[in-house]
Amino acid sequence: MSAKISMKTLGNSEIKISSIGLGCMGLSEFYGEATSDKQGCELILHALDNGINFFDTADMYGNGHNEKLLAKGLKGRREEAVIATKFGIVREKGEYARTISGKPEYVRKACHDSLRRLGTDYIDLYYIHRVDGDTPIEDTIGEMSRLADEGKIRAIGISEASAETLRKAHAVHPLSALQSEYSMLTRDPEGEILGLTRELGISFVPYSPICRGLLSNWKPSSDNDDLRNNLPRFQGDSYTRNKSIADKLAVIATNKGCSLAQLSLAWVCAQRDNIIPIPGTTKIKNLDSNIAAASITLSAEELADIEKILSANKVRGNRYTEEGMKGVNV
Ligand code: ATR
Repeated sequence: MSAKISMKTLGNSEIKISSIGLGCMGLSEFYGEATSDKQGCELILHALDNGINFFDTADMYGNGHNEKLLAKGLKGRREEAVIATKFGIVREKGEYARTISGKPEYVRKACHDSLRRLGTDYIDLYYIHRVDGDTPIEDTIGEMSRLADEGKIRAIGISEASAETLRKAHAVHPLSALQSEYSMLTRDPEGEILGLTRELGISFVPYSPICRGLLSNWKPSSDNDDLRNNLPRFQGDSYTRNKSIADKLAVIATNKGCSLAQLSLAWVCAQRDNIIPIPGTTKIKNLDSNIAAASITLSAEELADIEKILSANKVRGNRYTEEGMKGVNV
């Protein structure tokens, strides 16, 4: 039986969401061989039955497969779920190479395509996945605002945006969420973004809060379907160095009586009260462990011990390849 999970309110909305969500991407693509639909649906239902109602997907995960899988998993129970999906990364099936689009006509088409795949007539939280530097953000948000007026989306979010873009977007239509990578090993949002989201009443949704498994038990392999084998910080000397930081953090987890993955989730949740992480997992056992992590509180002393390790040991290697950085911090 899992621990009970507390609820929060999504920024600038009345939507109630669990204090951690479920990142569904890895069920379709990027982290090695995809799970079967049967297993994926079981995981989604297990999450729902154990208090997680916040499900994160995107049109590009598995080229539409992930949204269809979520629809299948939630069949008959859609109303109990808060579905977040995203548009804006345009890729050919199976290709990582991408272009970014925030053109109004593209936004509308992408929304209709996602609604069809999700088998629903509304999306709870619709994100710009990456910012299109060639289209004024006001135009992109303007079209999303019209979709909201039409009842097709309930709330608007943006992912990996710069502070300037966040302010401009929020001025057109109140934003509900900013989703960016954030973990003990990826602290970029601490510069300006975290404070700004709090100031504007926007929820901050960290993806990869377990650093894509670097803060658990992921290991390099020759599996080309596992994106991490191609990311700079997961390779060669950088991986060895970064793993040694994870090992130091694991000692704190052991002393706390939890796993390093759980410590990672407790740490992101401890940074601000508007933070709602969306760890990804393909396994019910790990899902239960993540649900339990939402109730773990770190003391000031434990947070200081973590800080000591992180400030003395800098992470090596970029978090994405150049291609993956398109539309980040724009
Ligand atoms: P993302 O948001 O990109 O999915 P993440 O949440 O930081 O990234 O990490 C996901 C990785 O952590 C996955 O490899 C997942 O492996 P499983 O699918 O095997 O679970 C792993 N992971 C997630 N929760 C975990 C847990 N509680 N213990 C160990 N590993 C976990």
